[in-house]
Amino acid sequence: MKILVINGPNLNLLGIREPDIYGKKTYSDLVDLINETARELGVDVEVFQSNHEGDIVDKIGEAYVGTDGIVINPAAYTHTSIAILDALKAVGLPAVEVHISDVGKREDFRRISYVRAACETSIVGHGLEGYAEAMKFLCDLLNKKTK
Ligand code: DQA
Repeated sequence: MKILVINGPNLNLLGIREPDIYGKKTYSDLVDLINETARELGVDVEVFQSNHEGDIVDKIGEAYVGTDGIVINPAAYTHTSIAILDALKAVGLPAVEVHISDVGKREDFRRISYVRAACETSIVGHGLEGYAEAMKFLCDLLNKKTK
């Protein structure tokens, strides 16, 4: 089983970026957590980060072959990108939306999520641990489907 974890713009700046909101752990710490979670779950994982909407759309399209599920934090594109929503719908893979911060309790514009409509569930405000939760959720779902 292979999971693709996608991170959108500025998440490469974790640790530097607004630590009061996103914490002090770095992007590299996040990648370590994702790899460790994959080991525990016994799944393959690919971790991808881009600051460019089109690159994220391309990556989702490529996942149609050889990937079983997607964990995605589209970052600011969450609130703007119909292209990412359409890409997720196009490949039809089970996807889970993650946000480090509680987007429901911040500015009004962060309450809108275009991608949510193509996701099985959303995990918000659980910090980096939300990625591990999302991966576990996806594995459980995929295991149920193959039974
Ligand atoms: C974020 C929340 C978004 O509103 C913001 O633009 C981000 C990060 C989060 O993980 O909390 O870049 O997706």
